[in-house]
Amino acid sequence: MTSRASGAAVTCEHVRKSFEGGRIQALIDVSLDIAPGEFVALTGRSGCGKSTLLNLIGALDRPDAGTITVGGRSLADVHNLAEYRATTVGFIFQFHYLIPTLSALWNVEAPMIGHERSRHQRVKRARAMLEEVGLGDRADDLPGVMSGGERQRVAIARALANRPSLLLADEPTGALDSTTGANVLALLARVRAQYQMTILMVTNDDEVSRTADRVVWMRDGCLVPSTPAEAPRSG
Ligand SMILES: Nc1ncnc2c1ncn2[C@@H]1O[C@H](COP(=O)(O)OP(=O)(O)OP(=O)(O)O)[C@@H](O)[C@H]1O
Ligand SMILES: [Mg+2]
Repeated sequence: MTSRASGAAVTCEHVRKSFEGGRIQALIDVSLDIAPGEFVALTGRSGCGKSTLLNLIGALDRPDAGTITVGGRSLADVHNLAEYRATTVGFIFQFHYLIPTLSALWNVEAPMIGHERSRHQRVKRARAMLEEVGLGDRADDLPGVMSGGERQRVAIARALANRPSLLLADEPTGALDSTTGANVLALLARVRAQYQMTILMVTNDDEVSRTADRVVWMRDGCLVPSTPAEAPRSG
């Protein structure tokens, strides 16, 4: 039943989001189109609304106005948002959020519960995902004995467990040193090629942005139209 994933198109139309009864306008009027399989880097100053946008696309929160369509479905029409979060999207955050009392294998298996038929299938897939991220021999280890980069690789394996068509990553290398961060990025590039996912990644790292198909800038709750004058200079 689980077929090879392919990237989902993402469309945001006039999305608004405020907090604190309207006092904080986190997203003012955001419209964005992401093609299937595209890797978009989202960048901008702290507080400009990047995580808010990611959270809305991942259905962790709802917009005040506007529509968000993922893989041709408007999120407003998705009745089972938990199912959407579990099967269509994979999340990677700055911090790994692994469950400290569970082994790497169990952490990767957890999101498959209720979606993958049997325990046997789940364990098989969790092992394959850990192999994929180069941690096949660490399956029984607890997160506490792993390095920051290893934990983040387990978090990537967990995010990919249900073969999402959209990967949402919020500063996934932000807490890693540059070498480890580069390895994590190389891993993401490899799994992206293999699973053909769409990726939207928040980052403030120019190195990371360079690996993306396109960089989208945000400022004060709005997307900055990309004009040659505003493009970062190279060299
Ligand atoms: N749950 C919330 N309640 C109240 N205000 C919030 C909430 N989430 C975000 N905000 C506010 O909305 C604005 C945008 O926040 P957001 O987290 O999206 O910024 P960001 O671009 O991700 O910043 P950073 O780079 O620091 O992570 C900020 O002013 C923030 O304080
Ligand atoms: Mg943020």
